[in-house]
Amino acid sequence: MHTDPQIFCAIDTPEIEKACALAREIGPVTKGIKLGLEFFNAYGPSGIEKVQESCPEAALFVDLKYHDIPNTVAGAVRALTSNLEPAYLNVHAAGGRPMMEAALDAMQGRSKLLAVTVLTALSEEDIKAVGYGYSMKEQVLRMARLTKDAGLAGIVCSSHEIEMIRSDLGSDFTLMVPGIRPHGTALGDQKRVMGPKDALDIGATHLVIGRPITGADDPAKAAQDILESL
Ligand code: C5P
Repeated sequence: MHTDPQIFCAIDTPEIEKACALAREIGPVTKGIKLGLEFFNAYGPSGIEKVQESCPEAALFVDLKYHDIPNTVAGAVRALTSNLEPAYLNVHAAGGRPMMEAALDAMQGRSKLLAVTVLTALSEEDIKAVGYGYSMKEQVLRMARLTKDAGLAGIVCSSHEIEMIRSDLGSDFTLMVPGIRPHGTALGDQKRVMGPKDALDIGATHLVIGRPITGADDPAKAAQDILESL
């Protein structure tokens, strides 16, 4: 049984050997690893299993953001969790409450389910074009409420949404937050970032941190330094 780690290190590489090597190095420190669509589409569930074997002590966040009809999403969740035991899985809240409930039901309590509200890559203009009639903030809040009403554990959200969601939805809701940059590290393509301690101080429960750890000369030390700064 894994503990619930504060940091999930995003291992975003299309090379399986590199992913396993990073997991071996970083997993024992952060105790949490996140794998996403790029890796999954290259190596599938057996690739995820290989990474997990490289660091059995790390909990896994499998970030595949399911979005389909309830029956299909439930089937996908069942198929994935029949071989793997990820700590966290996620869906798009835009799939609607019946889809979220079907996914939750299919997990049979084996993993925690999170929802993505509005992708942070979208601008106010983009969401209008999609057809959402609300501002970004209002839309995020509506989807966060829907997620909680559907019984999910929490959401993946931007650091700049933490305070709004925490004050609206209370303390019993997981906020998994990417876009984290320790002071002095490169932004990469992230535009709106926050330091790890700042994000936790205002109400994040978990942090997703990738390149500041995986791109460091000594990834294990970079992860350790972040943990010590919290
Ligand atoms: O390397 P970096 O710390 O920017 O990695 C962040 C991770 O979190 C990546 O895997 C990215 O896909 C993911 N993510 C994100 N922003 C979101 C949702 C997920 O950066 N809104």
